[in-house]
Amino acid sequence: MTSSFKSSQDKNKDLTLRTLLRDATHHHHVQLNRHLLLEELMQPNYPLSHYHTLLGAYYQLYALLEERINLFLKGHSVAFDYSERCKLSWLIKDLDFFQIDILTLHPLSQTATDFLKIETIGHLVGVLYVVEGSTLGGQMISQVLAKNHNFTHAAGSCFFIGYGEKTMTFWQQLIAFSDTLSGDNHECQAAVEAACQTFQLFNQVLDDVAHQNYTTVS
Ligand code: HEM
Repeated sequence: MTSSFKSSQDKNKDLTLRTLLRDATHHHHVQLNRHLLLEELMQPNYPLSHYHTLLGAYYQLYALLEERINLFLKGHSVAFDYSERCKLSWLIKDLDFFQIDILTLHPLSQTATDFLKIETIGHLVGVLYVVEGSTLGGQMISQVLAKNHNFTHAAGSCFFIGYGEKTMTFWQQLIAFSDTLSGDNHECQAAVEAACQTFQLFNQVLDDVAHQNYTTVS
């Protein structure tokens, strides 16, 4: 446990885990939103090729994340159902719409796959916080994609539409689940570390694909 985390825990015993997660990951979220592949997403001239690259990178990311989430849930008795939250099928639908063959995608680097570990309930909550939180920004993104590119649920935007009008319900359920760990300093620390690492994983994978695809493009 880092000393800054410990002191913030001691000072803020009443804070929920969600508040700790939001505060600890804020700068990672800001950094991610500034990434080339995400920042321009909201612009009318966002290149379709960048969107294809983003979907491909997300496919690899969510395949890894959901595999690790499901593996943990299979081996532990946890009062949380991820089965209705699977996002990989949304990405497959979008990639299929754009006729992108998932077999042609760059696999994740060994460093990326080794990075993510879900060994405790705290780790699980930290990873879920990031994975599920990504659906919140998706609501705004899908509206912009509809306006600028005419993407719909059936045509290119299934992933970003996500849970649609049920987004806040799904989010609140996740937050209620995460708050069951509030007060358990050890698992809260594990959750914060896993959430930061998951954001870093997104940043690293997006950097990797941007490098692979755009180093030769001016
Ligand atoms: C251009 C891309 C993105 C935009 C514009 C965006 C925007 C937003 C917005 C507006 C919220 C607040 C929603 C609300 O309170 O109702 C939010 C929350 C959140 N987003 Fe993003 N987001 C983006 C990408 C991502 C990605 C890629 C991730 C994860 C990998 C992520 C993780 C989160 C999390 C965890 C929260 C919850 C923060 C909290 O605890 O309140 N976001 N995002």
